[in-house]
Amino acid sequence: MGQDAYAHAIAEQDRELEFTLLDRQWTQLGGVLGGEYNYATGMFASALPHEGVTSMLEMGCGCGVASVIAALAGVPEVTALDINEAAVRTTELNARRHGVLDRVTAKTSDLFAALEPDESFDLIFWNSPFIEAPPEQRHESALAYHFFDPGYAMHRRFLAGAAERLTPRGRLFLGFSFAMGSAERLREVAGEAGFTVGVHRQESFSVPAQEMGDSPVYAAHADDTSQVHIDFTLLELSR
Ligand SMILES: C[S@@+](CC[C@H](N)C(=O)[O-])C[C@H]1O[C@@H](n2cnc3c(N)ncnc32)[C@H](O)[C@@H]1O
Repeated sequence: MGQDAYAHAIAEQDRELEFTLLDRQWTQLGGVLGGEYNYATGMFASALPHEGVTSMLEMGCGCGVASVIAALAGVPEVTALDINEAAVRTTELNARRHGVLDRVTAKTSDLFAALEPDESFDLIFWNSPFIEAPPEQRHESALAYHFFDPGYAMHRRFLAGAAERLTPRGRLFLGFSFAMGSAERLREVAGEAGFTVGVHRQESFSVPAQEMGDSPVYAAHADDTSQVHIDFTLLELSR
């Protein structure tokens, strides 16, 4: 299903669009995702606990929705990072559009690379590319980073880095899907970094296979009544 969604994204990747999410208008520049299939983006952004947070890091910001929503909720310093340069420009556009560019700093970065050595955060969040790909698979486009993590190596690096970047009261969240991600691999790499995995918020639903798309993969993943079961789950990783 991930491969099918990726193929669709590549076919549409030059398209710039406007979308509505959480009662606001957003821009999505070409070469970025997060607009069209944005239910999870909105659910995660609005379920994060912002109260009392003085600094937030959004890893893999995409269109910057979670960063802008956090800034609008009162988080005074939000850092938004993405390996995809077009995502960083999109996040800046959306932060300006919603009047919070003074609170949101967006940078191109492979995970934590662009941060200063002493930067730490009360809240770290990544709606991660949770579809596990074979370890030897190489990303052939910026959009592949949106979907896939070969061997969960990026998750491993992210969790090790997050462990060092949380303030003493800091909290760590991952946008995930048990239907599409590998819970087993995630628990393994989380354990290596000293975290246990818990569910903070989950929404599950069933979609008729034919509504998901023309590809036979949807029928192959459907149950006896032709329903595909999907969940969007905001995980909290605790030390
Ligand atoms: C599932 S998308 C989430 C996008 C957006 N935050 C949302 O919720 O719609 C994952 C994001 O992580 C970014 N990403 C993947 N690998 C990364 C890395 N090594 N460093 C920084 N960002 C990365 C991708 O470019 C993509 O924007």
